[in-house]
Amino acid sequence: MTTEHLDTETLHKIFVQPRTAHQFTQQDVSDEQLRAIYDLTKMGPTAFNSQPLRLTFLRSTTARERLLPHVAPSNQPQIQQAPVSAILSFDTQWVDKFEKFNPPMAHAAQKFSREESRLHSAEQSATLSAGYLITAVRALGLSAGPMTGANFSAINQEFFPDGNQRAFMIVNIGYSTPTPYKRNPRFSFEEVAEIL
Ligand SMILES: Cc1cc2nc3c(=O)[nH]c(=O)nc-3n(C[C@H](O)[C@H](O)[C@H](O)COP(=O)(O)O)c2cc1C
Repeated sequence: MTTEHLDTETLHKIFVQPRTAHQFTQQDVSDEQLRAIYDLTKMGPTAFNSQPLRLTFLRSTTARERLLPHVAPSNQPQIQQAPVSAILSFDTQWVDKFEKFNPPMAHAAQKFSREESRLHSAEQSATLSAGYLITAVRALGLSAGPMTGANFSAINQEFFPDGNQRAFMIVNIGYSTPTPYKRNPRFSFEEVAEIL
């Protein structure tokens, strides 16, 4: 099934106008908004429909303080200021859930007997889902600030000591104040694409 072509204004609102958020207003983000973000994110395609992305939303000061020592100093004020900081991780045990997420293909679990291929697939699909999440945040009128300037081994120790999840990105979510610096250029189609 294909979708109807969105109008130019809507496309601009989702893809062109939003900037990466580095500073946020005081406006809160509700639990309902976080659920709405997930309900859009989860519909994006993942390998075998595996949906390995896991989300840990930090709202309280106590929760945020557990993350702060493990992010780059320049990223700390962004986390302190954002109404919500999400730790994005992937499920290292995703193969055990084949019967739930893809009953007809449950036999494919055996393709992932090697840990390396299990983790690679989970990280790849969860990273794609991070993109869907950022787009969902924007489509819902909020701003997203993705960050990887952090010590993810230390974050895993702090939040996922049993090894069942591996963190790979933090996304601050809220209402951005106007970005103070000029946008950097994007590559043109001719510079990066070829049609064979
Ligand atoms: C995977 C990823 C990692 C990033 N890590 C950081 C980070 O650690 N700290 C930060 O301030 N910005 C970080 N950014 C923000 C980027 O610098 C920003 O999205 C990019 O420059 C585009 O900015 P624009 O949306 O304003 O055009 C990251 C973005 C992505 C997608």
